[in-house]
Amino acid sequence: MASPKSNGPEAEAGPWKLVMENDGPIKSPIKVKYTKLFINGEFVDSVSGKTFETFDPRTEEVITSVSEATKEDVDLAVKAARAAFDHGPWPRMPGSERGRILNKFADLIQQHSEELALLETWDGGKPLDLVKVIDLPKSISVLQYYAGYADKIHGMTLKMNGAYQGYTLQEPIGVCGQIIPWNFPLIMLFTKIAPALACGCTLVVKPAELTPLTALYCAHLSVEAGIPPGVLNVLPGFGAIAGAAISSHMDIDKIAFTGSTQVGRLIMEGAAKSNLKDVTLELGGKSPLIIMDDFDIDKAVEIATVATFTNMGQVCIAGTRVFVQGGIYDKFVKKIRERAKKIVIGDPFKGGVQHGPQINKIQFDKILKYIQYGKIDGANLLIGGHSLGGKGFYIEPTIFIGVEDNMRISQEEIFGPVMSILKFKTIEEVIERGNKTIYGLGAGVLTKNINVANRVARSLRAGTMWINTYLIIENDAPFGGYKMSGIGREYGPYGLQNYLQVKSVITPLHESPWL
Ligand code: NAI
Ligand code: MG
Repeated sequence: MASPKSNGPEAEAGPWKLVMENDGPIKSPIKVKYTKLFINGEFVDSVSGKTFETFDPRTEEVITSVSEATKEDVDLAVKAARAAFDHGPWPRMPGSERGRILNKFADLIQQHSEELALLETWDGGKPLDLVKVIDLPKSISVLQYYAGYADKIHGMTLKMNGAYQGYTLQEPIGVCGQIIPWNFPLIMLFTKIAPALACGCTLVVKPAELTPLTALYCAHLSVEAGIPPGVLNVLPGFGAIAGAAISSHMDIDKIAFTGSTQVGRLIMEGAAKSNLKDVTLELGGKSPLIIMDDFDIDKAVEIATVATFTNMGQVCIAGTRVFVQGGIYDKFVKKIRERAKKIVIGDPFKGGVQHGPQINKIQFDKILKYIQYGKIDGANLLIGGHSLGGKGFYIEPTIFIGVEDNMRISQEEIFGPVMSILKFKTIEEVIERGNKTIYGLGAGVLTKNINVANRVARSLRAGTMWINTYLIIENDAPFGGYKMSGIGREYGPYGLQNYLQVKSVITPLHESPWL
């Protein structure tokens, strides 16, 4: 997977230089302690004895080998999770006790956040500065948020028709499969496991094969926190093998997934062809960011930069279709070009670096291919467009102008640092064009006019709409996709509903001779 790179586009000199330590990438920053499958509270080898390698995106070198789960391991983990669900203490204990354990888990993540941040950067190439201020705090806070819900899950009393009364029970849905992507390995892990654990479910979790290390580290901390054996099982492995075994398992009650739309479809198929398990999908996007003439141009440039280039563009809600109104278009183009030049690219371990390598060769090649498509389809390259450095999957922040709606760079998810700038005149036009995609994950509008903001917010078909900001995700704000960006919502009370089912209990109020 991390074979040497093919040549990217011809290396025209860009304004960026990779910021490194004097003698190149910072060497093995930490010792990797946990590399085996975590089943029933223990680290074990895989049944087949197979392992796979995880790579450092900075150097393309192997970090370590990790046990590889196949179908047999999934079966063992499901057995453990089933036993823990059917007979174990976790679903039966008072919610307050589960909440206490989850808060302890959050405290342990906090105590080990330095080590976890180093591992996250090493395995995924994410800038350490960002991991420390975003990934770790967000992971901890989502765990605490749902810990607080654990003793506040309850049903309703039903008045019924006079002869009967009833109530509802909110019960944990059962054994859940959860498949995690590589772009935010820790945040996505906790966004999935926190609500499920709060509800009393038991879990079989598959981290992405590209970034398995932090999930295994957290599995170790879950034991210390007091999560009973079998409740949380973590199985590193490949999507087509372990992932497919989870989605088509007859004894898993629910599956939650974040990743590509294409794999989302496979997961739904797996669920449909097995036991019709409940499915939540958080998938791809091609989100519009609409900038009106009246908005402060410097702020707009900042927001657009963050919207596209955060995490090297490996963000499902990246606002990569930047629609700029005619009156400020030329000025905006000039300013965003200068702003992009200031992005600091280099070894993600180095302080001050904002932009590291892409995750792997496949993504690196995909992004460079889309940059070629942009040129072929007739867009103009404003800045960037090249790979950087010898080793490592570094790509320059890239901006195209003169982009048309039907170009591939305007329609397909690139998942890299590539911004498309599109010009528009009227609100009606931009609403129509903003919606012209199969996706509907996020959308943004920047304007001083509240009426315009509200009108755009109501008209764009997207799960999250930002007004005068972008990319903000909070624990209590429901998050998910319209159209082919997914099914269901995470975060907030909606996130809990994914892991509960409701039961009606009905009793007569009077003795009845027949019922
Ligand atoms: P992917 O969708 O293949 O990977 C995400 C997860 O799904 C990984 O854990 C993987 O092992 C698992 N998976 C893969 N095939 C599976 C299968 N048949 N059954 C069950 N699980 C399976 O994404 P990939 O290939 O790493 O990236 C391809 C594109 O997907 C990216 O370029 C990007 O467009 C999109 N993507 C979107 C993400 C998001 O946050 N919405 C995250 C990661 C990728
Ligand atoms: Mg890796």
